[in-house]
Amino acid sequence: MTHTLIDAARELAPSFGARAQEWDKTRSYCWQNIDDLVSAGIMGMSIPGEYGGRGASFLDVVSVVEEIARSCALTARVVVEGNLGGISAVMAYGSAAQKAFCAPLVLAGDKPAICITEPDAGSAASQMQTTARKKGGKYILNGTKHWITGGGVSKLHLVFARVMNEAGIEQGIGGFILFADPRSGDCLAGFEVVRREHTLGLCGMPEAELRFDNVEVDKKWLLEPPSGLKHGFADLMSAYNSQRVGAGAVALGIAAGAHEHAKRYLLDRKQFGRPLAEFQGLQWMLADMDTQIHAARLLLRDAAQSRGPDGSAFPDMTKAARAKLFASEMAIKVVNDALQMFGARGYGDQEPLERMYRDVRMFTIGGGTAQVLRTQIAGSILGIKTPQSRDGYMRLSDTTPVAAE
Ligand code: FAD
Ligand code: COA
Repeated sequence: MTHTLIDAARELAPSFGARAQEWDKTRSYCWQNIDDLVSAGIMGMSIPGEYGGRGASFLDVVSVVEEIARSCALTARVVVEGNLGGISAVMAYGSAAQKAFCAPLVLAGDKPAICITEPDAGSAASQMQTTARKKGGKYILNGTKHWITGGGVSKLHLVFARVMNEAGIEQGIGGFILFADPRSGDCLAGFEVVRREHTLGLCGMPEAELRFDNVEVDKKWLLEPPSGLKHGFADLMSAYNSQRVGAGAVALGIAAGAHEHAKRYLLDRKQFGRPLAEFQGLQWMLADMDTQIHAARLLLRDAAQSRGPDGSAFPDMTKAARAKLFASEMAIKVVNDALQMFGARGYGDQEPLERMYRDVRMFTIGGGTAQVLRTQIAGSILGIKTPQSRDGYMRLSDTTPVAAE
């Protein structure tokens, strides 16, 4: 089964590559590719069979993501969010009704939007201000989220919010499943896509600001994390580790694609009467790129197969952080080196390198910055919690420090 999906991804990759420049130049979402992903069974491949998916593992998903990202990072990001992050949180923590509602939408091509970041809570995500206050059988949602991938094209939204009881006392952080289809205008009252960012890369993917102004959500759409709302943030972030691994796989795929282009060019292009491939300075660059790509792939596979403590359904936090950190920094360097090998041709848009160079840049920022991930990894190594807020305090972790590997 796994091979069928990876083979399908390989078969689709050339047509995705052929259209990638068009999405980039026109800043349009890759609807045509999504139809192909749906037909191939790649959208929602991680959803269990009883809900219509294929029950594919995280490892299967990251392998498919890498294949697609080699030719179109935009489409690969759709595959990430169509299988990991928000939808995987719903399938692991959700009620039967929540799963039965969300799964068919994703299988039909919807890429859920995960809504965590706010204007005043980026890296400090736990300081989010969006609230959901209970009122009878509903919650009233208020707040603003920004840089939401797919905002304006996604129908499903998983919105992280501080949950208050009727008296306004905070119970913890939970996720709310919101259906809103801004394209057809079928939105909950008070839900608004405020604006779209103009981005450096991945230009076909909307990154949008969303506002919730007294949005009424039935209480059945509260995604209750398994250990209750008090530990809700940690459980939701634990589910988010799957998306971090997915983001690393997109970065890896872009790097692998750039490396492939560079190899072809070194063999084709001649200077001083010889193929560039004969110059040792370039050979060593290519060898370093190859080595780094392989190392990232191993870290990502290790993370995808790992599980966090206490029977978690999701990748281990430290392994996910390590893999995403390494893959994202590696990919930025590898794509930069590949572009260098093309000389002026790499700088123009006849080759895909300039697009890949812009596309890859986000991966040390979105989904937890390189600095935040280093802090998490260091905390695990040392066995200490290092809250970053000014009134925070350093304390011994409840968990054992990670063993050296
Ligand atoms: P800030 O937190 O303001 O950080 C600014 C700089 O300071 C960074 O270099 C950071 O590393 C550093 N810094 C901050 N705190 C510390 C610290 N304690 N120690 C050391 N350095 C620190 N969010 C969503 O919720 N959903 C999405 O779908 C989504 N998609 C995104 C897509 C893209 C393309 C991008 C770029 C972002 C996306 N985000 C999304 C938001 C993303 O998660 C945040 O940008 C990220 O968490 C960082 O927050 P910030 O941009 O506010 O930076
Ligand atoms: N996986 C599992 N658990 C996680 C986690 C993760 N990725 N990140 C945090 N947690 C848990 C912590 O272990 C802690 O649990 P505890 O209460 O049992 O000790 C709890 O969540 C709070 O984490 P802590 O590191 O103490 O939080 P903080 O208030 O200092 O906030 C973060 C720091 C977690 C917000 C910051 O490290 C972070 O990840 N920022 C980036 C946010 C992000 O990725 N946004 C992406 C949007 S798409």
